[in-house]
Amino acid sequence: MYDLCPHVQLQTVVWLFYGGLGAVASSLLSGLSGYILLYLYLSLVSDFFRQIIGYTEQFRDSPLLKIWIGPVPFLVLFHAETIETVLNNPVHMDKAYAYKFLHPWLGTGLLTSTGNKWRRRRKLLTPTFHFSILTEFLEVMNEQAEVLVEKLDKEAGKGPFNCFNHVTLCALDIICETAMGKKIYAQSNYDSEYVRCVYKMSDIITRRQRMPWFWPDFFYNYFGEGWEHNSCLKVLHSFTSNVIYERAEYIAYIESDSESDQGMRKRRAFLDMLLKTTDEEGNKLTHQDIQEEVDTFMFRGHDTTAAAMNWAIHLLGSHPEVQRKVQQELQEVFGVSDRPINTEDLKKLHYLECVIKESLRLFPSVPFFARSICEDCHINGFKVPKGANAIIMPYSLHRDPRYFPQPEEFRPERFMPENCVGRHPYAFIPFSAGLRNCIGQRFAVMEEKVILASILRYFNVEACQKREDLRPLGELILRPEKGIWIKLEKRKQQH
Ligand code: HEM
Repeated sequence: MYDLCPHVQLQTVVWLFYGGLGAVASSLLSGLSGYILLYLYLSLVSDFFRQIIGYTEQFRDSPLLKIWIGPVPFLVLFHAETIETVLNNPVHMDKAYAYKFLHPWLGTGLLTSTGNKWRRRRKLLTPTFHFSILTEFLEVMNEQAEVLVEKLDKEAGKGPFNCFNHVTLCALDIICETAMGKKIYAQSNYDSEYVRCVYKMSDIITRRQRMPWFWPDFFYNYFGEGWEHNSCLKVLHSFTSNVIYERAEYIAYIESDSESDQGMRKRRAFLDMLLKTTDEEGNKLTHQDIQEEVDTFMFRGHDTTAAAMNWAIHLLGSHPEVQRKVQQELQEVFGVSDRPINTEDLKKLHYLECVIKESLRLFPSVPFFARSICEDCHINGFKVPKGANAIIMPYSLHRDPRYFPQPEEFRPERFMPENCVGRHPYAFIPFSAGLRNCIGQRFAVMEEKVILASILRYFNVEACQKREDLRPLGELILRPEKGIWIKLEKRKQQH
């Protein structure tokens, strides 16, 4: 049995201040340490994600990998078997230290909360993602897909353009209307202050997570981006807070006025359910509780799907044979009709679903996430002490050649039911797994199907970048460094 206690190892480590030196030290240390790999380095470079990916490739056959980010040791898990040990154990449910930097924005909503608070919230929120409710959101998704197709139509036949923002703003419009019941017209009004702050905030948080010297508030506020962070926060919170007040008043009005015209009612949103829901003792959520969840949905609910759709568009655009198969499936389901997509259609789009999964395998929108180990345990024969941090790396896990031979190849057929038989259940986890898996996964797949199907019903897509040009940036969300460049060709006249 090997002991991974950080105190013991602190006596043996070397401090490295530059990422480049990490590689040199890694080879020295791997020779010294046998099974356990030790690194202590403070990353001053932006290529942090690529460095970790490099290590997971280099040490794919090692039983366990450990790195240091500043003074904090992290286990890096990228094998289905070791990940299962952590995610399948309801004890290790707490989020790692780095999530602390999301607290000012998201409070302790579903993503960031722990213990009993998380358990109560998850129980309360699970019914809001019920299939029947998601079906109501299909209308919003179809409407926003139509706006997107109209915008893309202006680019068709004109040569290469970057579709990343177009798709992202569409996803933002969808989440705003479904989460808050508020239309923000992001697709037509790109310059909204709220929209700008949503993006800025994600960037600011990622930068802070990478720079341990800015982890203490004092340094961050005086020498870092504390001021910008706080001014963004004000915009984000006052926007969602106002929406919640307006919606609460509207619901109170509807409930008090039994005569009110049903036809005048607004569409349901997640927010309505949060305003009405009660726990076992009949207590309602407070305004602050609701704000935490709405902010969490806004943060988690659009960048993830937007990135996933963009990667899928690139992959479809570089594999014409796959694209043709999807279009053939669409032809079988819709024929020449340009009607909106309904739930029955969604169930029939099997091959498109395989494409979505295979895209998420190669480019998981959440390329890594972290847990705190909540009690002493053993992982792959090593003793891991309570309090250790574990980084779970879907990006590397999904490239395990034992489960996905020739892992870099894009082959949607891997996800046909007959080809999944016998695959380890933790070999593919874009939405995480276990009790703390993604609550929005059905919503996400539904949205992806609607948007991708809408694009491919109207256009042929050609990718203008090679895989090696994409340079995925692994921050909170996996994004291509320079966007997704494509050419579009119209398939038929639009209505
Ligand atoms: C392709 C799209 C998506 C991907 C790949 C994705 C992935 C993930 C992953 C990996 C986690 C676990 C994170 C962690 O443990 O730190 C997670 C959690 C979560 N996701 Fe998603 N997500 C997607 C879309 C969505 C959407 C559309 C929503 C909401 C509408 C959403 C809401 C959440 C929430 C609230 C959590 C926290 C769940 C909990 O801890 O109980 N996600 N997601």
